[in-house]
Amino acid sequence: MSRPEVRLAERLSRARRVTAITGAGVSAASGIPTFRGAQGLWRSFRPEELATPEAFARDPGTVWEWYAWRRELVSRARPNRAHEILAGWSRSRRFERFALVTQNVDGLHERAGTRGVIRFHGSLFEVGCWNACRGSPRRWPDERVPFPEMPPRCPHCGGLLRPGVVWFGEAIPPEALSASLDALDCDVCLVVGTSSVVYPAAGLAAEVKRRGAFTVEVNPEATDVSASLDLAIAAPAEVALDEVERLLNV
Ligand code: OAD
Repeated sequence: MSRPEVRLAERLSRARRVTAITGAGVSAASGIPTFRGAQGLWRSFRPEELATPEAFARDPGTVWEWYAWRRELVSRARPNRAHEILAGWSRSRRFERFALVTQNVDGLHERAGTRGVIRFHGSLFEVGCWNACRGSPRRWPDERVPFPEMPPRCPHCGGLLRPGVVWFGEAIPPEALSASLDALDCDVCLVVGTSSVVYPAAGLAAEVKRRGAFTVEVNPEATDVSASLDLAIAAPAEVALDEVERLLNV
């Protein structure tokens, strides 16, 4: 049996429609900590405790501190080799269609030049009015780092701003959900750098397999979905994708 990287490269060389589903592990090599695992903790808070409307209602200052810290970290970070390769595939004529669905809110896929990123969980660099005041759009871009005041205020009503991300208990933006479901009709699907525990995103891998795609996980650690997919590459994304790209070009 050939190495999994070789098998993936063979599949990709014959594929017309390719989809990548990505998570925090893709940005690990850019210095952005993942959510889960030893490095994923921020002052011992779990994301499930901070990334909720209830947590924000109770303590907007702490929740905003977490997001402001991540905005600062990300604005100093640069896309890594994994982002670059996926961006290259999105721009090349190698595939008839390449789609990228990300749970990441850091914007690094976009900064690497990826075309048509489908943002499942919103963006760190968008905000909205916490009170959904009448004068404001639902979400708008805000790239100020740092904010002039903390917690930041809505320019329309003076109330609190909220991060433009999807919190636990909130719905996935309908356009992102429908674009993601469309992207699951593909020949090869890569599931890269996600622990596949947060639903509904975690359900996409099972659905894409059900629709008949060849499914490949790229993650140095085994996850709940590893065994049910067609291939698991147990390596960091920036290493494994670099190897696959090299094999595609020989
Ligand atoms: P997690 O932090 O849950 O999982 C990151 C995964 O990346 C783990 O399985 C790691 O083994 C893997 N990993 C680490 N380094 C890697 C590398 N160099 N290459 C490839 N994989 C690597 O992150 P997500 O699955 O993205 O949602 O988390 C899902 C959601 O939970 C996030 O979108 C966020 C969070 O709470 C919300 O905030 C709603």
